[in-house]
Amino acid sequence: MQTSIIKFVLNGELKSLEISPGTTLLEIIRDSYHLNGTKSVCNEGDCGACTVTLVEYQEDKPLFKAINSCLYPAEKIMNKHVITVEGLTCKDSELHPIQEILYNNYSTQCGFCTPGIVMSIFAYLAENSEYNEEELREALNGNLCRCTGYVHIIQGALEIINYFSEHQDKILPKKLLEGNKKLADLNKTFNLNFAEKSQGGRGVEGYYLIKSLAKYQEIIKKLKGSGTIKVVAGATDLYVVGNLRRSYFKNYLDITYIPELTTVKADDKYITIGASVTLETIRTNRLISDKLPILAEVVSQMASKQIRNIASIGGNVGNASPVGDCATSLIGLNARLILFGEDGEREVSIDQFYKGYKETVLKHHEFIKEIIIPLQDKCFYSFEKSAKRKTLDISSVCSFCYIEYDKGKMNISRFAFGGVAPYPKLALSIALELRGKSLEELDIEYLGEKVSQEFTPLSDIRGSSEYRHILIRNHVIKHLEKFKEEAMNEG
Ligand SMILES: Cc1cc2nc3c(=O)[nH]c(=O)nc-3n(C[C@H](O)[C@H](O)[C@H](O)COP(=O)(O)OP(=O)(O)OC[C@H]3O[C@@H](n4cnc5c(N)ncnc54)[C@H](O)[C@@H]3O)c2cc1C
Ligand code: FES
Ligand code: FES
Repeated sequence: MQTSIIKFVLNGELKSLEISPGTTLLEIIRDSYHLNGTKSVCNEGDCGACTVTLVEYQEDKPLFKAINSCLYPAEKIMNKHVITVEGLTCKDSELHPIQEILYNNYSTQCGFCTPGIVMSIFAYLAENSEYNEEELREALNGNLCRCTGYVHIIQGALEIINYFSEHQDKILPKKLLEGNKKLADLNKTFNLNFAEKSQGGRGVEGYYLIKSLAKYQEIIKKLKGSGTIKVVAGATDLYVVGNLRRSYFKNYLDITYIPELTTVKADDKYITIGASVTLETIRTNRLISDKLPILAEVVSQMASKQIRNIASIGGNVGNASPVGDCATSLIGLNARLILFGEDGEREVSIDQFYKGYKETVLKHHEFIKEIIIPLQDKCFYSFEKSAKRKTLDISSVCSFCYIEYDKGKMNISRFAFGGVAPYPKLALSIALELRGKSLEELDIEYLGEKVSQEFTPLSDIRGSSEYRHILIRNHVIKHLEKFKEEAMNEG
């Protein structure tokens, strides 16, 4: 039997651990190292009690990220520094200033959520050099507390950012700084080519970290006929299914280490996003903010910082959820997908990608390599999302509107909807209605009703069919009112 040994740094100390594929980082932290400050609660990314901070080097710079350890495949910690709440202090009885200030502000009661909150604040402080309330709140969106209430937590967190604005040298204790140096050395000596098959636990035989497209093809050939093979990126969907339904695949092929899948490029006509680019990168990437700020706006309404730090745009399209926020927006943006598989590359329009509920045109072992989005000068974009909660919630209905507008007339328009059909879909009637019309001819109420009648949404826990009909209508009205205002302001 071959085994997987991973080398990483844990709370400042170099570690080497044999793991079974299919294991999560949370299990390693609690079961292998008995660091029980990191809690296991929902196991589906919803509560943040399992939050830890990861450090990895990019261009010789340490990058800090808060993540949900319950959804994080253990293999991915190779060459990373894992920091748990125990790592923030050198002695057991000592408190880190983050903990001390929260304690003094009565920001904790039963304390179950507190280590996760501490680690989210810690990651926010360590990853930035300047702090503000908006981003601090954003960093805490993925942490739920059932008993304290958020007033005291936010009050404590605000005092923390004030304190560390003056004392940045106190964020990282000495042992964590030393741990980062060990990580830098580990990177120099350790090759990322980790693709050996191992056995154990849950029927998972292999978790492969793949570092090139050629290696992917090679591994596919090797594994053919040896059971199910599943492409994995952030695992924020796949490991929820694993944790909750105990349903696993025999082999996972992790495509997040393939360089072509992790870049964002742009010219005057297109922006090209690698499929493994994370949602948080999309939210913060300069090129995207400059060329297509609406996409940053879309992802900022998705999930939590912990999830966005690992979830990918390709995973959002590839999982073929009927309510995928990125998938719906990319349909509105008329994106094209570059697919890669055993026979090389091919291109499809995202309009042609979905065939039915959770069904796509992807052939066996094919994945999305890149997403190409056309850029337009004279156009209007807008995204709407209706969910039960403002943050960290899946849409009941989401929609994306794109309108080309020139010389007082509307030309091409695309209205895409999620949550109203078995897969994200374009509304067809409205494009015909709008073509060639002026603002004065726009009958917004009529169009809202018309689009609403075009779909027959299902009833489920996120809303009844009737409710979704109302949402579709209201979304159309909101998009068109925003459009009208913008067009009138531009004269
Ligand atoms: C707490 C929580 C909140 C969430 N909130 C939102 C939300 O607000 N909006 C929303 O839309 N989604 C949300 N999601 C769903 C999920 O996080 C996203 O869809 C995410 O983008 C999936 O990406 P991933 O990289 O983690 O996918 P993975 O879990 O790695 O993969 C998901 C599926 O996509 C396939 N896949 C992965 N990469 C590719 C690729 N390059 N090509 C083809 N197939 C691929 C995998 O084989 C698998 O079938 C949430 C999930 C959680 C757990
Ligand atoms: S245990 Fe709830 S997010 Fe991980
Ligand atoms: S202090 Fe009890 S859940 Fe937050």
